[in-house]
Amino acid sequence: MRTIRITGTGSALPGRIVTNKELEQMVETSDEWIRERTGIGERHVSVGETVVTLASEAARKALEQAGKRAEEIDLILVATSTPENVFPCTACEVQREIHAEHAAGFDLNAACSGFLFALQTAQAYIQAGIYRTVLVIGVDSMSHMVDWSDRSTCILFGDGAGAVVLRESKGGLFVQAAHSDGAKGDVLTGCSRHRKNWDHPDEAKAAYIQMDGQSVFKFAVRRVPEIVEELLEKARIQKEEISYFFLHQANRRIIEAAAKRTGVDISRFPMNLQEYGNTSAASIPILLDEWNKKGLLKKGDKLVLAGFGAGLSWAGSLLEW
Ligand code: ACO
Repeated sequence: MRTIRITGTGSALPGRIVTNKELEQMVETSDEWIRERTGIGERHVSVGETVVTLASEAARKALEQAGKRAEEIDLILVATSTPENVFPCTACEVQREIHAEHAAGFDLNAACSGFLFALQTAQAYIQAGIYRTVLVIGVDSMSHMVDWSDRSTCILFGDGAGAVVLRESKGGLFVQAAHSDGAKGDVLTGCSRHRKNWDHPDEAKAAYIQMDGQSVFKFAVRRVPEIVEELLEKARIQKEEISYFFLHQANRRIIEAAAKRTGVDISRFPMNLQEYGNTSAASIPILLDEWNKKGLLKKGDKLVLAGFGAGLSWAGSLLEW
């Protein structure tokens, strides 16, 4: 059967680091509170960088590792909820930057689950025999979306990009699952800063994230173990056979609770949120790239990737490295 394999990874982060201590100067919070409730110590924010420059840098690195030239890419898929412009889409802007002349490209928005939805879309294209080489990027600039005077949200997020190159492969494993629950979408919303109403043209909506943190927390802790179970059943393998569970990096307590409910030791749940915060669609490919670069992934390793976020939406893939 035709399946897919990740043949290269890359990531990019803005240079400016904002520590919890710095946030203490901006809102009524403390380093201790943030670390205890979230695990986050610092985050990178864009000053000069854009989602296009970050995504392009991550893409170039992934291509280099995959040993592919940009003109060999058939499709560029960008998962983002913070594009620079509504159009042209970020994928086309990345295409221009990296000179991937032969690629088609489009963006996809499923908030923090976006990278998984994009990965699964790429898989479907490859399995259908439509494309052979696909560049999938998760990128977000959450610093442009948060209200920096709202302590309940501004402490959580950061900016970044992660990319993978996918190739058709014979054999190997790749199963997927995805779900949405639009009826509960109100617990986590972010408005487009460009949106204006026809009848009130002067009123632009605020770009801020509104979140019922505890509802999001409960949603994640329930849905992540469920989707892990669903993937294991589909693949007919035991959780002991999974080398690592790469979860969306929203909050250390969510990941710890998910590990506990899944009955797997926390050491098999990689984390880097302490350095980057929640980078939304970028968090999983950034983490994957870090583990790859550290040489911690071996050919044949079975990995679970699982994302969750606004929509509400949650998605997972089980694949062989
Ligand atoms: N510093 C100090 N105090 C704070 C801060 C802060 N940064 N933020 C909130 N507080 C206060 C609240 O005002 C509240 O005070 P009160 O008791 O006087 O009213 C108190 O701390 C407790 O607030 P809670 O909201 O109950 O705190 P909780 O333990 O739930 O932690 C948090 C909040 C960290 C947001 C948690 O709910 C959470 O992580 N939820 C998941 C959020 C998430 O991960 N979202 C993103 C996932 S989806 C996506 O990635 C887009």
